[in-house]
Amino acid sequence: MDTALGFDGEVVPDGARFVAWRDQSLLQSVEAAGIPWPSACRNGTCRTCLGTLTLGEVRHTVPWPGLSADEKSERCVLPCVAQPLSHLVLRRAPLW
Ligand code: FES
Repeated sequence: MDTALGFDGEVVPDGARFVAWRDQSLLQSVEAAGIPWPSACRNGTCRTCLGTLTLGEVRHTVPWPGLSADEKSERCVLPCVAQPLSHLVLRRAPLW
């Protein structure tokens, strides 16, 4: 799916698939598909939802997402404040 409404999304390593809606955060899209994903603040500060993009592009909807420059270069993403720009694959953080 790559339409005006959204893109294909996948969570690895478990392979769960979801629709990454253009007008929703990745966290909302993942949750709407029934995929468990940790969250707390839901505003980009606590880092509970941290993941990594292994494919695709997102834009963060806040100017401060709680990521260091190194994390950004390593394609870390905070799904609660990220919206999809393409088909994407989202990797769970290694601690959970
Ligand atoms: S839930 Fe807190 S940064 Fe995403």
